[in-house]
Amino acid sequence: MSRFIVNGGKKLRGEVEVQGSKNSALPILAATILTEGENILHNCSGLSDVATALRILRYLGCSAKKTGCTVLVNTDSICRNDIPDNLMREMRSSIVFLGAIISRTGKAKLGFPGGCELGPRPIDLHLKALRQMGVKISERHGVLECTAEKGLRGAHIALSFPSVGATENIILAAVKAKGTTTITNAAREPEISDLCDYLISCGANIYGAGEGVITIDGVDKLFSTQHTIIPDRIVAATLMAAAASTGSEIYLKGLIHSHLNSIIPAFEETGCQVELERGNMLFKAPDRLKPMALIRTMPYPGFPTDAQAPLMAAATLCKGTSVFVENIFENRYKHVDELVRLGANINVQGKVAVVTGVESLYGAVIEAQDLRGAAGLLVAALAAEGTTELSGINYLERGYEDFEVVLSSLGASIRKI
Ligand code: UD1
Repeated sequence: MSRFIVNGGKKLRGEVEVQGSKNSALPILAATILTEGENILHNCSGLSDVATALRILRYLGCSAKKTGCTVLVNTDSICRNDIPDNLMREMRSSIVFLGAIISRTGKAKLGFPGGCELGPRPIDLHLKALRQMGVKISERHGVLECTAEKGLRGAHIALSFPSVGATENIILAAVKAKGTTTITNAAREPEISDLCDYLISCGANIYGAGEGVITIDGVDKLFSTQHTIIPDRIVAATLMAAAASTGSEIYLKGLIHSHLNSIIPAFEETGCQVELERGNMLFKAPDRLKPMALIRTMPYPGFPTDAQAPLMAAATLCKGTSVFVENIFENRYKHVDELVRLGANINVQGKVAVVTGVESLYGAVIEAQDLRGAAGLLVAALAAEGTTELSGINYLERGYEDFEVVLSSLGASIRKI
């Protein structure tokens, strides 16, 4: 089991190119199942979740090769429509393969998805929508058996919550369905727009991506294409939090500024200065951060649940009290007890966390229990005086590529053992 040894308290300095988005790459890799010919995907990070998606494609009989940040996928030879339980359990995003497999083969058999345990993460919205589109689904012994004997048909789908995964699954099922599908209360995350941009470049008819109502006119065929995955806004937010907690100045390259619209104001409230210039950002933190009145996680364009833990880690060092309200997942404060081990003062009541800033954190032995929680603990460890030993970094590696190398290049003292 790997761990990070971090000697905290060092200022960061330098520039970093932000990696490609995990949450874009995974649904786009699933979407290749709908296409004919060879797809070339650029800016695809070397993450364990990406490796899992490639293993799923290969298990299905497709060819999937990754060289550097480029992935070549050809799904012409697909010969299966099931995903084994071990691959389903590795990540929640494995569920987006369902819409694509059922569209391509008329059948799918898979277990319930795994991923980080953030409280109940049901898939009822996914299944209800697919049923509306003509899929018969039986759930027995934890296995979903899905058939669409007469093919998929367009439907009007009103989501009761703008679920990212459900919106992706519906889009994947709808692009080659008969007729028109309308999704109301669709998720508006940039990763949804990236998926739609990829599909449109393959020949799909999709209108309204990035808005609350998405309309999809089904087509008979989709072709392969070349596509560049968008930069990862959560990795950018994590690097901003690392700079904020250590009073540092860093330069982030390769961003899409508008994707950070709800994240930048939170850091500005703490006194950090953000200068944007053509896809890059100069980020300067003060020696001591000011508190944030209220951070509420919300569906996009609100503050992202994925950036809550890294921002909270920085908030532990603010001069004053910050309040967080986690509205997306019930169990997304698992990093709190470990932050407290580092000397943080945090009180959690249900979905509310009250963070009373302390002057300094100190190194300790801590353990991450989920992906973004691991990122938050690392942000705190970088700021903590003395040595922190962080285990559970397999979670971090699901979403951050060679993060110890990135942080070392900025001057952090971190090594993986
Ligand atoms: C969520 C985040 C996404 C993030 C990802 C990984 C939101 C809106 N979504 O996406 O930004 O990148 O986690 O951390 O912030 N739900 C149901 N039934 C369903 C599907 C979802 O009740 O069928 C509920 C979930 O329990 C959860 C909420 O809806 O409370 C958000 O779920 P959803 O957006 O689907 O989650 P992810 O796709 O995992």
